[in-house]
Amino acid sequence: MKSKQKNKKVRSKQTDDKPAIKENNLESRRLFLQKLWKGLGVLVSLEFVAVIFGFLFSGKSSENEFKPKQLIEAGNVDSFNPGTVTPFRGGRFYLARLADGGFMALSIRCTHLGCSINWEDDKKRFVCPCHASAFLINGEVQNPPAPKALDYYPIIIESGKVKVDVGIRLERNRFNKDQVAYL
Ligand code: FES
Repeated sequence: MKSKQKNKKVRSKQTDDKPAIKENNLESRRLFLQKLWKGLGVLVSLEFVAVIFGFLFSGKSSENEFKPKQLIEAGNVDSFNPGTVTPFRGGRFYLARLADGGFMALSIRCTHLGCSINWEDDKKRFVCPCHASAFLINGEVQNPPAPKALDYYPIIIESGKVKVDVGIRLERNRFNKDQVAYL
């Protein structure tokens, strides 16, 4: 009889403890979730700060800076007279020195259907053998069907030398003085 009573007591103690254990579990889960949210908050903040820093210091200005890709040295500035055109067939461009001394590196591809153009020195113009388009020394269309001016390549003039970046071909509709490289 005594032992039955003892058993009852033990059982009742166990049932009394259960809510306490549940509460403990809930509390520790709540704490865990709080810590998790805090951790996630810190991570998101760090990422935000990193994005801001990246935007400020990754050099938005450097995107606009000219980065040469495939430079070809064409020669000394003085070796090209104003009003002349020199072919660089290997580089697939004509180096034109305009009457005012500025340089342009013009693509040899006609802007109509892509045939190779030729320079006619006596008429001071480029002509296309395919459909007779003609271009001025600065690449502007003189005679259609070419729809736009010749493409051109960036030029760097350094230490008296003309260098053409054949890795970057620039398209344009019309000639503009900003496209010309000067000393
Ligand atoms: S491809 Fe040059 S005029 Fe047609």
